[in-house]
Amino acid sequence: MKIVMILGSPHKKGSSNMLAEQFRKGAEEKGHTVEILDAAHMNMHPCFGCGHCGMDGECIHKDDNTVIRDAVLSADMAVFVTPIYYFGMSAQLKMVIDRFYSYNGKLSAKGLKTALITAAWDSNADVMPYTAEHYRKLCRYMNFEDCGMILGTGCGTPSMTANSEHMKEAYELGKSI
Ligand SMILES: Cc1cc2nc3c(=O)[nH]c(=O)nc-3n(C[C@H](O)[C@H](O)[C@H](O)COP(=O)(O)O)c2cc1C
Repeated sequence: MKIVMILGSPHKKGSSNMLAEQFRKGAEEKGHTVEILDAAHMNMHPCFGCGHCGMDGECIHKDDNTVIRDAVLSADMAVFVTPIYYFGMSAQLKMVIDRFYSYNGKLSAKGLKTALITAAWDSNADVMPYTAEHYRKLCRYMNFEDCGMILGTGCGTPSMTANSEHMKEAYELGKSI
C-alpha cells in the first residue's frame, strides 16, 4: 500500500513529526511504501474560494498543491500530521485540506484510508476533542476510511514527546495498517 504522510508543523524535528516518524517506521516494517510531504515547508497558498476550479479542475495558484494532489490521488492512505494550535490543526495543514477543493470530487470518490497524528502541550481532556471531531467530520464528508488517531497530549517538546506513551502508540498504529 502507498501511504502519504502530510506534515503540518514548522518544526522539522518537532513533536508531531517525531510521532509521524514512529508511524512511518511501523508502516514500513509492515511492507508499506511511505512518502513524506512536508507541507509546512512547501510552497502553498490558502484557497481563495474563487470557484475557478469548480471543485474539480485547475487552481489559480501555481504552487506545490499539484505535487500534493498527485501524491494523494495516487495513494491508498493519507496521514494528517499536525501540532495543536488553539485547539485545532495548524494553518499549514488546514491549507492543504482547503486546497482539496480543487480535486474534491476525485478525492471523495477514492475511499481513501486516513489517520490523524497530533501533538499538544497540555495533557488535560479538553485539548483534543475539537480536532478529533473535525477530523471525524472530514472523514464522513470526504468518504475517508479512518484507520486511527494518535492524540498526542503532553507532547509539548521533543523531550516530553520522547518520553510519552504516544511514541509507541504511533509505531503500533503504523504496524497495524
Ligand atoms: C500558535 C500555537 C498555538 C498552540 N496552541 C496550543 C493549544 O491550544 N493546546 C496545547 O496543548 N498546546 C498548544 N500549543 C503547543 C503545541 O501544540 C506544542 O508545543 C506541540 O508540541 C508543537 O508540536 P510540533 O513540535 O510538532 O510543532 C500551541 C503552540 C503554538 C505555537
